[in-house]
Amino acid sequence: MADARHRPGNYGIDAPNVVRNLLLLGIGCLVLGVVSFYVFPEKWLWLGVAIGMVLFIAFLILLIESLYMIWSSKVGKYRMREKLLDFIQLRGDELLLDAGCGRGLVLIAAARRLTTGKAYGIDIWSKRDQSGNEPEVTRENARVEGVAERVEVLNGDMRAIPFPDGYFDAVVSSLAVHNISNLEERRRVLGEMMRVLKPGGRLAILDFQHVRQYADALRELEALDVHIYGPYWSMFPPVRIVAGRKK
Ligand SMILES: C[S@@+](CC[C@H](N)C(=O)[O-])C[C@H]1O[C@@H](n2cnc3c(N)ncnc32)[C@H](O)[C@@H]1O
Repeated sequence: MADARHRPGNYGIDAPNVVRNLLLLGIGCLVLGVVSFYVFPEKWLWLGVAIGMVLFIAFLILLIESLYMIWSSKVGKYRMREKLLDFIQLRGDELLLDAGCGRGLVLIAAARRLTTGKAYGIDIWSKRDQSGNEPEVTRENARVEGVAERVEVLNGDMRAIPFPDGYFDAVVSSLAVHNISNLEERRRVLGEMMRVLKPGGRLAILDFQHVRQYADALRELEALDVHIYGPYWSMFPPVRIVAGRKK
């Protein structure tokens, strides 16, 4: 397994709005909790203390959740990218697609495992899904990590992957497919991933939601050896990996 501590690139924070909202909500609970100790008259003091305690516990839970999410983006995710890539067993000469590559965390780790192959990343660059999400940032990360010549970054929607049938030896995707809210569109994504895979090509998807659906869709598409692994708690929310291969 490659070294999960190798991380010169800068890969941002996932779901930055969620992290910010959890922190703001937590601070709100703390402020209201403190206020509730003082606003109740003497005979209702017990109620103020009870409300204050509940709000303080809510503050602690929200704080822990948001810190866990930040830790997940900054530490846990580096462990999971290597685990995800272990599922596709690269030799080094493959063409690989990372669907929803963002700032390139998995894409670049994949390129580091390639010798003569190439790693392609497509994305629609949503800043709501990842902070500072831009193709130039991904290319800069590839340069910093010394794999720029083995990485290609493109604009592309995984619902209509801009590559011909059977182009890739492997397809990976990390924390991206759940961003598509519609079930039928998620199924279309899996169809697209299978379409661009060569026969015998491997696929591994990491996500914290809908993973059973992905596995069902892949089986319907006649993928072989489809299994779900996890949950893995190196990330928050905890994630699972679905892996399989094209017939
Ligand atoms: C939470 S980020 C994860 C990025 C990267 N895979 C990682 O693990 O660091 C989700 C990514 O999915 C991308 N995304 C969302 N919907 C997409 C779509 N329909 N097609 C391609 N990318 C998409 C977002 O722009 C974002 O870069």
